[in-house]
Amino acid sequence: MFPDNDRYQCERELGSGAMGTVYLAKDTKLKRNVTIKVLHPHLLVKDTLRKRFLNEARAIASVNHPNIVSLYDVVDGEHPFLVMEYIQGHTLEHYLAKNASLPNLVLFELTQQLLEGLAAAHESHIIHRDIKPSNIIIDPRGYVKITDFGVAHILNQDTLTVSGQILGTPQYISPEVVKMGCLSDKSDLFSAGCLLYRAATGTSPFPGDNPHHVMQNICNTSPQEPSEQNPKIFAVLGETFISLLAKKPEERPAIKSIQDKLVRFITESELQVSRQNLLDYTSSPADYTRKENHILYSYYHKKAQKAERNGNTTQAHRYFYQAGLFNEDSGTKKWVQQKSFSFNKTAFLSFLAGVCCLGLFAFLFYDGLFQKENVTHANSQIQEPLVLSADTIITKTKIEVSDTESVVTQPPTTKPSPKGFLLIKTRPPFAQIFLGGKDLGKTPLSTPTRINAGIYKLVIQKKGCKTLQKTIRISKNDTLILAFELERIDLE
Ligand SMILES: Nc1ncnc2c1ncn2[C@@H]1O[C@H](COP(=O)(O)OP(=O)(O)OP(=O)(O)O)[C@@H](O)[C@H]1O
Ligand SMILES: [Mg+2]
Repeated sequence: MFPDNDRYQCERELGSGAMGTVYLAKDTKLKRNVTIKVLHPHLLVKDTLRKRFLNEARAIASVNHPNIVSLYDVVDGEHPFLVMEYIQGHTLEHYLAKNASLPNLVLFELTQQLLEGLAAAHESHIIHRDIKPSNIIIDPRGYVKITDFGVAHILNQDTLTVSGQILGTPQYISPEVVKMGCLSDKSDLFSAGCLLYRAATGTSPFPGDNPHHVMQNICNTSPQEPSEQNPKIFAVLGETFISLLAKKPEERPAIKSIQDKLVRFITESELQVSRQNLLDYTSSPADYTRKENHILYSYYHKKAQKAERNGNTTQAHRYFYQAGLFNEDSGTKKWVQQKSFSFNKTAFLSFLAGVCCLGLFAFLFYDGLFQKENVTHANSQIQEPLVLSADTIITKTKIEVSDTESVVTQPPTTKPSPKGFLLIKTRPPFAQIFLGGKDLGKTPLSTPTRINAGIYKLVIQKKGCKTLQKTIRISKNDTLILAFELERIDLE
């Protein structure tokens, strides 16, 4: 219920959570919009708690930072309430509910601003205690605003006993909060890690069927690598989010060291990250994501070409693969065009080489020096080193796959044989791959797997999807890149 007062006029209810109900109101004195949070009465039954609430609120009101929703006033009375800055825009929860995960550069900006806000509060010795997507609002200028700062902290563990409910949201609380241990600013970093992990992957790092199960997992299990959930995620982001999820608070990194690491990466990569990324994303997530995919496709593609020029084949494979992850839209077309151009160049050079060889062959034959054994010997040699060109990737994609070919050979294992490379990704990911009966692990194969050249039976299995079977050919010194959309089946 909106409290009786002389100054604030209720406009409408904005929402309601575990701790109170939030209203948009008009401040009739200063003639501006404000947000009023009326705390649930059962949370402030004791006088000591009410006093603590008022004192803490005053401390929070002293923090002034662009990434923190300002607390203007705290009003005591029958229904105590907080008066906060009104932020237009949507909560992060809103965007995650619609889009599951955020693109890399948006994640960078979100991480930086979130950490800025937390650092400012921690400097004033204020802990948030309930960092979660519904407490993060992205405003129309691309600012990340942390709301409800300190509200959970105001209501300490006495309140838990009084109300019988857990303050803090199970998916985002730290192990030390679960165990009622010593709470510190590092607890906020754990919650931020949970939030960012979810924003990067679309899933919680500690999933569970019920709050109890979630809390058990928070205390006892290690989260999966973010890249296993979302292969597109930058390694530097994945590592950062995992480091925030350390079970021991003292093992979580300092905010400054994370910020330095991220800034270094962005500077070296020459990628552009600013508030504009958040602003563009919130204006149209789909358009922005397409644009960012294109930027990151070019980014990895350039790196791959550079690695290829420097003769670093393994790196080149890795970057080409990563570029491929971002080329699902308009980028693909451009890539194919570029590749077919360089393929024509290669074909022309091969043609020239062929003419020269023929000339040499005629010369040798004429001179009576040609010996059959020499030719046989030359053909049986393993050709090293492997030189992969991007043409190979593009020309072999989808060509060497067949549903009907029946010859399946096991690769010779006793003596060295010519090798090719294989990369496989599937949608959905984490499908089990069997090649010639051998378990190759789960998709995506993010680095090229070295395989003896030959024809193989490929089987891909994933629970909830139809098993896929293909016959593929791995050719000598070649890389076969396969991408499959697995057909889902309804599990009764
Ligand atoms: N300062 C603000 N400016 C604009 N809207 C806000 C502000 N604070 C909260 N809101 C809106 O009010 C909604 C409800 O907020 P509330 O804090 O009550 O819920 P919650 O965050 O889901 O739960 P909890 O009580 O656990 O924090 C939010 O989802 C958000 O849309
Ligand atoms: Mg809230």
